[in-house]
Amino acid sequence: MQPEKSSRTTLVLLIFLHFLACQVSSLDTIKQGDNLNSSSQLVSAKRIFTLGFHTPRNTNNSYLAIWYTAGSYGPVWIGNREKPISKNMNPVLTISNKGQLIITQSGGESFELFAAGSNKNQSLSAILLDTGNFVVSSNGEILWQSFDHPTDTLLPGMKLGVNHRTGRNWTLLSWFGESNPAPGAFTLEWDPSVRNLIVKRRGMIYWTSGELKDHYIELGNLRVKQFENFPSEVDIFNLNYNLSNVTSANEEYFTYSLIIDRTWTPEERKVISGWKINYDGDIYDTNRGTIDRPSLCYGYKTEGSSVPKGCALWAQPECRNNRETFVLRSGDFRPVNGRPAPSVYDNDSSLSLSDCREKCWKDCECVAYINGQGTDGCVYWKGKNLEFYQSPDGSLLRKYFLDSPSSSKGMKKHVMIILVVVSVIVVLILGIGLFVMRKVKQGKREEELKELLTLEGYTEGYELENGGAKSHDLRLFTYASIQSATSDFSSDYKLGQGGFGPVYKGKTPEGQDIAVKVLSRQSGQGLLEFKTELILISKLQHVNLVKLLGFCIHGDDKMIIYNYMRNKSLDFFLFNPSEREQLDWNKRFNIIEGIAQGLLYLHKHSRLKIIHRDLKPSNILLDENMTPKISDFGLARIFKQNIDEANTNRRVGTYGYMAPEYAMQGIFSVKSDVYSFGVLVLEIVSGRKNNCFRQIEGPLNLIEYAWELWRKDSALELMDPTLRDSCDINQLQRCIHIGLLCVENQAVDRPTIEDVIFMLKNETASLPMPKNPAFITRNSVFQEVEKSTKEKLSANELTLSEMGGR
Ligand SMILES: *[C@@H]1O[C@H](CO)[C@@H](O)[C@H](O)[C@H]1NC(C)=O
Ligand SMILES: *[C@@H]1O[C@H](CO)[C@@H](O)[C@H](O)[C@H]1NC(C)=O
Ligand SMILES: *[C@@H]1O[C@H](CO)[C@@H](O)[C@H](O)[C@H]1NC(C)=O
Ligand SMILES: *[C@@H]1O[C@H](CO)[C@@H](O)[C@H](O)[C@H]1NC(C)=O
Ligand SMILES: *[C@@H]1O[C@H](CO)[C@@H](O)[C@H](O)[C@H]1NC(C)=O
Ligand SMILES: *[C@@H]1O[C@H](CO)[C@@H](O)[C@H](O)[C@H]1NC(C)=O
Ligand SMILES: *[C@@H]1O[C@H](CO)[C@@H](O)[C@H](O)[C@H]1NC(C)=O
Repeated sequence: MQPEKSSRTTLVLLIFLHFLACQVSSLDTIKQGDNLNSSSQLVSAKRIFTLGFHTPRNTNNSYLAIWYTAGSYGPVWIGNREKPISKNMNPVLTISNKGQLIITQSGGESFELFAAGSNKNQSLSAILLDTGNFVVSSNGEILWQSFDHPTDTLLPGMKLGVNHRTGRNWTLLSWFGESNPAPGAFTLEWDPSVRNLIVKRRGMIYWTSGELKDHYIELGNLRVKQFENFPSEVDIFNLNYNLSNVTSANEEYFTYSLIIDRTWTPEERKVISGWKINYDGDIYDTNRGTIDRPSLCYGYKTEGSSVPKGCALWAQPECRNNRETFVLRSGDFRPVNGRPAPSVYDNDSSLSLSDCREKCWKDCECVAYINGQGTDGCVYWKGKNLEFYQSPDGSLLRKYFLDSPSSSKGMKKHVMIILVVVSVIVVLILGIGLFVMRKVKQGKREEELKELLTLEGYTEGYELENGGAKSHDLRLFTYASIQSATSDFSSDYKLGQGGFGPVYKGKTPEGQDIAVKVLSRQSGQGLLEFKTELILISKLQHVNLVKLLGFCIHGDDKMIIYNYMRNKSLDFFLFNPSEREQLDWNKRFNIIEGIAQGLLYLHKHSRLKIIHRDLKPSNILLDENMTPKISDFGLARIFKQNIDEANTNRRVGTYGYMAPEYAMQGIFSVKSDVYSFGVLVLEIVSGRKNNCFRQIEGPLNLIEYAWELWRKDSALELMDPTLRDSCDINQLQRCIHIGLLCVENQAVDRPTIEDVIFMLKNETASLPMPKNPAFITRNSVFQEVEKSTKEKLSANELTLSEMGGR
């Protein structure tokens, strides 16, 4: 056995032992007189949830908590968040004979969670249910339940809203900090009058979800509800949230459940999910990652910036402008006159991270801050003309630095004036251009456009394949024609929601079926640039790429028009139990080959060298012959802004398909596409989704599952059972092998797409052994990031405490 393998085996063994150890107590109920101390736990009937005492990292505090038995997602509920008990004080949960549910400690005050009226003769018991609800009841009557006392996480079935009968509100309240469950700055509330979720910071509205509306989803013709302002990515990867509002005489609330497919096994039904309002204001699912990022709200206009939809507007300090944000970076300010840049320490321990930011934002002198790193309160750096430098090796303490793209020193005013003049001219030219274009008859439209582009400086330097004889086939559609083709963007025509915006189906007057992709307005790109990009992209023609027909510009709205593909997309077949059988092994192998060919063309044979960055089953469309067509290629080029910001804000791409170096550091290359391709191959072979792996007590995701089977020499178990009759075992095994090579942790180890095609085609060529894959999930991203922060912090703690003493 190789050393690498053996250490991994040890790890698996350790996890298993740990698992056994946790299994010692598996009761789900305590009765009056029973005790639960720090070495015992309650575990729900199907082992989904555990209740016990939890000690957050780097603290000695003990809290009564409920968490998912599987996974390291942290507590979803805390009983005594305001009254931590030292873990050395032997905290014990008990139902006293007086009918109280209390936490006692040796030699300290006890904390009462609930007290039944003492005049009744009750026999109380408390049970931890598989929903995560901890319920105290007496003779079948529910007296108290943890679901009525939410902490910061909304589990499926929990309510958020108002109970008119008891006058109590169900509201989530964030933790104070990363390992401090005390009440923090953010709340997540439900406003039934406008059917909005609202995030407030210290009582002030920070972000709203927009109205909860009916929403049509392509897969399985589901009609589920969705919030207006949720980012479009949420639609895709959260197909299985069923959001709902309930209004009755006594209660008005929001809740959600998971859409569970009938075909799921009982094991698969133990899906982990919980919406958490994080201490920085972000909302994420404990298992699936970010839902939305209110922490990026700065209270100024959201249009055209990378701030999420739904941010509230606030009065702004005059000195701040809407290009400024704070960015977490490893770096420092250069010393001024030989002395370190001045910092100010505020020791007020009630200040959380977002309070520090708020204070810094409102102080015109403040250019950086940090919070809670070994000391309570905030540290600020203030001053004009402080010069920032980035730590070359990332070893300097990470702080939040003010990032103002427009304030590059000196010349600022001149640059602004020039910019204004230039943009006025450009707008004029564009205005005249568009006016001219409108006047031109349908037939001449293309000619005119080309001329216009030449006029505007579109150079012929980009001549592509086909000798450049024919410049482009791109058609300019009028807005009116798109409106009539899609019945005015009616929801009945909506095909789905892509990462870049909604997609509609339509029919042109000539009877051609089209798909209209409406780009979200955040592309932050000028019209000219948009057109130039599109024309470039339209020149990429390959049988495995979806064909671009044209585009349409209407005010700020930009649309791209494609050929409509009758057979929808790969995910429709692959992940749909009733359709899956239609894809026999031959078709699947052709699809794998086709995708590889399309990618090869993008990576090598088109002169643009396009890196797709969002390769996933829903972006692989299928025509009537089941030929795969890659769609959305080149969109990353159009959405340049998002990509430049890949390090700080939203990353283009979808978790589960993103290579680790891209997800964590924003580094992308052809090898990150190869990674996504590897995930696709494993999914095609197995008929299972990578990031929706629902086995609680097993591997994290499909990649890990495949890797474990591979190491046990039983890779064929990965095969989708419906392929049993049609598959070519050797070919299938080879595909798994190639898939595993593509998802290797180190980008340099992964093959290029050329290598992949060679390996697919040459059945006799010997393949290298795959190395450790990257088991990437949303949570491992968080954990990695946290870990690296921690490591750097401890290396720098000295600097900070010195500063604190000043
Ligand atoms: C917890 O309770 C059990 C039995 O009630 C006892 O054996 C054990 O020592 C206790 N553990 C602690 C840490 O008090
Ligand atoms: C926790 O307790 C141990 C010993 O009781 C002590 O060394 C350590 O500093 C404490 N940690 C914190 C964060 O208070
Ligand atoms: C209270 O209930 C218990 C059984 O649950 C019973 O043995 C006892 O006699 C009852 N006491 C009174 C005062 O009713
Ligand atoms: C509950 O919410 C309503 C409105 O949403 C508010 O008027 C009321 O004061 C809240 N009650 C409590 C106890 O927070
Ligand atoms: C949700 O809200 C809408 C609009 O207020 C209402 O018509 C509908 O009845 C509510 N749904 C339920 C289940 O109460
Ligand atoms: C969503 O939940 C509502 C009630 O909460 C239920 O009536 C509906 O059938 C669910 N929809 C799906 C697709 O599961
Ligand atoms: C915080 O600072 C103030 C004055 O700057 C001082 O009086 C106080 O003792 C400090 N508090 C703590 C907890 O260090």
